[in-house]
Amino acid sequence: MESKATNIVWHEGYVASTDFEKHTGHKGAVLWFTGLSGSGKSTIAREVEWRLHEMGKQVFVLDGDNIRHGLNKDLGFSPEDRMENIRRIGEVAKLFRDSGTIVLTAFISPYTSDRDIARNLLPEGEFHEVHVDCDVDECIKRDPKGLYKKALDGEIPSFTGISAPYEAPEKPELVVNTAENDLAACVDQVLEHLKTSGVL
Ligand code: ADX
Repeated sequence: MESKATNIVWHEGYVASTDFEKHTGHKGAVLWFTGLSGSGKSTIAREVEWRLHEMGKQVFVLDGDNIRHGLNKDLGFSPEDRMENIRRIGEVAKLFRDSGTIVLTAFISPYTSDRDIARNLLPEGEFHEVHVDCDVDECIKRDPKGLYKKALDGEIPSFTGISAPYEAPEKPELVVNTAENDLAACVDQVLEHLKTSGVL
């Protein structure tokens, strides 16, 4: 997207990203969790956040429902609004990553093209797409917020998985299946990925 403003000048700071790394002992990175509502994105992200925090790492979760209470409260669920939601979060995640933080984002982010916008903001290898895979029937069974029932009753239009699409990632860096594995196993898979990919 082109900047609307003109006469703006980029300023570099005096602290390089390697200086942040010296403090934290690890690189900044973005772990982008994507999956259906109720698939377990936030639950896994919160647990990974806790585990990393306990290990003394600098970590922070950006969560769809929470961000929509503040920064993105002006956005709904049309394809355009979802794109803007993900574009803004991609930029925020990049800023956190620039500060040396391991950022965990938990947004449905149903469109491949929107996730790619977030991916392309970062250098190769620093965006880790994590598909939180859970079939829609299992999500309907769980229905932790009662939203699938409402969507199936026609009370929520354009609900992902029911009346709006979810485009599963084709080449995610990691897939965790929450229908087949329990929370602890999924969290371990994520932590293992952070080690093997050199973030930790
Ligand atoms: S996204 O599609 O733009 O990435 P986001 O992750 O921010 O979605 O928000 C999804 C959350 O909003 C869901 O977990 C659910 O609680 C709520 N929600 C309300 N309406 C919808 C809808 N029409 N489709 C999907 N989620 C919805």
